[in-house]
Amino acid sequence: ATATDVRIVEVGPRDGLQNETVIVPTDVKVEFINRLSETGLKTIEATSFVSAKWVPQMSDNTQVYSRINKVPSISYPVLIPNVKGLESALSVGAKEIAVFASASEGFARKNTNCTIEEGLQRIKDVVDLAKKRDLKIRGYISCIVGCPYDGYIKPSVVAKITETLLDFGCYEISLGDTIGVGTINTMKDLLKNVLTVTSPAKLAIHCHDTYGQALVNVCTALDFGIKVADSSVSGLGGCPYAKGATGNVATEDLVYLLNGLGVNTGVDLNRLIEVGQFISEALKKPTSSKVNKALYKN
Ligand code: HMG
Ligand code: MG
Repeated sequence: ATATDVRIVEVGPRDGLQNETVIVPTDVKVEFINRLSETGLKTIEATSFVSAKWVPQMSDNTQVYSRINKVPSISYPVLIPNVKGLESALSVGAKEIAVFASASEGFARKNTNCTIEEGLQRIKDVVDLAKKRDLKIRGYISCIVGCPYDGYIKPSVVAKITETLLDFGCYEISLGDTIGVGTINTMKDLLKNVLTVTSPAKLAIHCHDTYGQALVNVCTALDFGIKVADSSVSGLGGCPYAKGATGNVATEDLVYLLNGLGVNTGVDLNRLIEVGQFISEALKKPTSSKVNKALYKN
């Protein structure tokens, strides 16, 4: 990998917590995000404004967003599925949103109860309103190399959706390996294809670590010039509609990797480790971050 500066998008409070079946108290979520704000992270995805019937864990979205300390130099994007979600996010003053599309029909149906195309139309409606309100808009694509329902996904499909989301007005597209099946070779194929429609500056990589390939896949993305990586402190995460999918690459492990490469992230690893411990204790489960396990001193 050759990158010099990498921006980490911390998705623990959203991707991380959405998969927890036991409801985490709002106070804990707020403290979690406030502590993350003190680690040097520049982007922290705070919550999602999805249907509470679908993801009960995120039903305190308005309270969480209203109560967190919003450090002016930090961006706190929120995940939005439709105009209804955008309206509630606007009601609490969200400044940045993330929309999400799927590269597979099976996952689109399970995750958003619609086809890929209907999902893109919903996103267009969200983006059109968000642009009028001067929001920054990030786009996600799920199942970039594989889908739990449809299997292998063609890179050209992902490239096409990337182009569509950029045309809508997303400033960056985060490519999601939702179920962590990607390998160096499938990632390379995918990125070569997507980079025929855009530049690395418009892309981010979002790897789940289900098969232990997340760090390697991030490295592959860095080799293609991508300089934004999503991760979750303590390796929390997963998608309730992708059965068996585990957490994102752990932020501690990612920072350790980048430190080793001499790549600047601005993130203080020791502080991050403390936050990883805090949330693991709150969830009563051991951290999934190897670096956290190795470096944490009681
Ligand atoms: P639906 O059931 O087809 O929609 O769900 P609906 O319009 O018929 O609404 C059903 C009920 O939900 C209604 O309530 C709506 O009002 C309510 P009722 O009238 O029955 O009382 N509702 C809402 N409530 C609050 N906020 C809203 C909202 N919208 C509807 N925004 C829908 C369609 C898209 C809403 C649903 O499927 C949904 O919320 N899906 C989101 C699932 C989710 O959060 N998945 C995880 C995030 S994506 C992810 O993790 C992948 C990512 O990390 C990248 C990667 O790893 O690949 C980003
Ligand atoms: Mg995810």
